[in-house]
Amino acid sequence: MRPITNPRAVARSALCEYEWPTHPPASRLGLFARNPMPTSEIPVRRGREFLQLPGPTNIPERVLRAMCRSAIDFNGPEYARIKAECCEGLKAVFKTADLAPIYTASGHGAWEAALVNVCSPGERILMPETGNFSSSWKRMAESFGIVVDYLPGDCRRGLDPAAVEARLAEDRAHAIKAVAVVHTETATGVHNDVAAVRRAMDAARHPALLLVDAIASLAIADFRMDEWGVDVAIAAGQKGLMLPPGMSFTCINQRARAAAEASTSYRNYWDWRERLPDRNTITFCGTTPEHQLFGLQESLRMLFEEGLDAVFARHARLAGAVRAAVRAWGGAGGGPELYCLDESRGANAVTTVLMPEGHDPVALRRLCRDRFGVALGMGLRDLAATTFRIGHLGDVNEPMVLGALATAELGFATLGVPHAAGGVLAAVTALAEAAGGEARGRAA
Ligand SMILES: Cc1ncc(COP(=O)(O)O)c(C=O)c1O
Repeated sequence: MRPITNPRAVARSALCEYEWPTHPPASRLGLFARNPMPTSEIPVRRGREFLQLPGPTNIPERVLRAMCRSAIDFNGPEYARIKAECCEGLKAVFKTADLAPIYTASGHGAWEAALVNVCSPGERILMPETGNFSSSWKRMAESFGIVVDYLPGDCRRGLDPAAVEARLAEDRAHAIKAVAVVHTETATGVHNDVAAVRRAMDAARHPALLLVDAIASLAIADFRMDEWGVDVAIAAGQKGLMLPPGMSFTCINQRARAAAEASTSYRNYWDWRERLPDRNTITFCGTTPEHQLFGLQESLRMLFEEGLDAVFARHARLAGAVRAAVRAWGGAGGGPELYCLDESRGANAVTTVLMPEGHDPVALRRLCRDRFGVALGMGLRDLAATTFRIGHLGDVNEPMVLGALATAELGFATLGVPHAAGGVLAAVTALAEAAGGEARGRAA
């Protein structure tokens, strides 16, 4: 590990590993030298590399091929058809009749759009603590002068709707403008119950808007914008939608649109008032990212071919298998453990694994990636030194998940990480039970 002395680099290192020789400087790679570095320092690997991160995720060949074409006239009829199909498709995935402003931006862009359109500086929002992503979103809100009532929570169990209700009930003056929740907290692998949050808000008879970060849940687990009374739903392309990073969405209803009319926050690129001529059109600020839409059109077609319920069931099945493996590794104690303590809250998208004390998840990830060709997700911020994550979202199937689990087990064995045998077997058993159940269901 390269020593980090620059404080900015230290801050950055909380989110991205700062290590080499995995990423050696160009001079060390021999790019500028007459003699390239000895090949023994860069291991040559064969076979397919596995990407089991919780984002970016595997991009299906069909999506890649759809994007592999020349630009077209963005005012022409073909592009109009593509946009219309994407608009309708997105509404079906968000389960809403409302609109989806799209940004050429990562999920952070859509986060920012939601905040500045809904809130003015000095206004309050309530945000339950769920993990790294709630705390990052909170910091972003505070940077705009929004006052965040950060409701402390148990990140290993997920947010508590009763605590949301109690806090809203105390707010008799209705000063809280919005409740902002993360549906799947990608740092912890805990999935939160949005419908229960809406029930809590209604029980408190509070008029706050409900903002939901569905970045790691959309097209992975059920999400029902209209039925659950979500006012602003936020998503990004690189997770369940199986796209390259670079596109994000805010789906907004009429209440959110009214809030945007009243907000005094400075905004331009993110301004919903500029982006919504009507609910059947997608508009962008600036040049439209055509190739992202070519990809989106294809990925939406793939999701509808499979069927959204089947997509959710596939994710649930794979997630269940991963959790079965981790439970088996944990054995009677002392091995790797599920970070999520409430089995019913285990996320479809990602599983966060707590390493046995004194064992380094970074060394495990490095071995799995550099020696065996399987990229596992790193732990985030305060979980960086104790956890790693297995992503099982998007274009993923049984062999990919089993390969990742077998490689993690190989990593434990190589590094001497204590674990009980039988993790992969437990996953195979869980998957076989699910496949057998499906077959019996079809025969009946
Ligand atoms: C739940 C959640 N929210 C927000 C983000 C931020 O999205 P992006 O990295 O695309 O800006 C992520 C990214 O992983 C996420 O998982």
